[in-house]
Amino acid sequence: MKFFIDTANLEQIKEAQDLGVLDGVTTNPSLMAKEGIGGEENILKHYKDICDIVDGDVSAEVISTDYEGMIVEGEKLASLHPQIVVKVPVIKEGIKAIKYFSSKGIKTNCTLVFSVGQALLAAKAGATYVSPFIGRLDDNSTDGVQLIEQIVDMFEMYEFETQVLAASIRNTMHIIKCVEAGADVATCPLSAIEGLLNHPLTDIGLAQFLSDFKKVNG
Ligand code: G3P
Repeated sequence: MKFFIDTANLEQIKEAQDLGVLDGVTTNPSLMAKEGIGGEENILKHYKDICDIVDGDVSAEVISTDYEGMIVEGEKLASLHPQIVVKVPVIKEGIKAIKYFSSKGIKTNCTLVFSVGQALLAAKAGATYVSPFIGRLDDNSTDGVQLIEQIVDMFEMYEFETQVLAASIRNTMHIIKCVEAGADVATCPLSAIEGLLNHPLTDIGLAQFLSDFKKVNG
């Protein structure tokens, strides 16, 4: 399973990259705003900066909600850097735009997916990734991981090449459950990635090893 980091924070992206396990980055307009990145020039520069840090795919989201606007924006984003994946919401115009981008060989990430039907349309349009938001489903008393399972099964059954990118991940158990469900990618906050390291028995065991070493080595 690939690990993407879900942030526009350059320090956190560097930290995850330094860990050596990072396969890409996802951003969205809220994450960009959180870093105070505004204005077209700054936004485009920020995406470039992210691409310079990581080796893998970097999702950059369009703001337009009409087909023509999405095409203009998406083409500009894609021309920025070969690692850019154009992130498009799963609305009617978005599906048309994904079809267009796919015909031009531009990678896409279909976002705000909350149902199997939405994932089906995105895959049929040729999306590179679909992003089901599991945390937000859980927030609404619906099993987010179950949606991942359903989409993974559907893509296998019909041999879609679209990858399932589990998004809106909040904690380590979400990641583990996504592994079990067969998600291709999990995009996570740094805290959830690093949280996978946590185990009290590791800490206790390491402390014991070091103290035993000290007994005979001073
Ligand atoms: O990239 C979009 C997604 O991961 C959002 O997560 O925590 O705002 O639901 P969250």
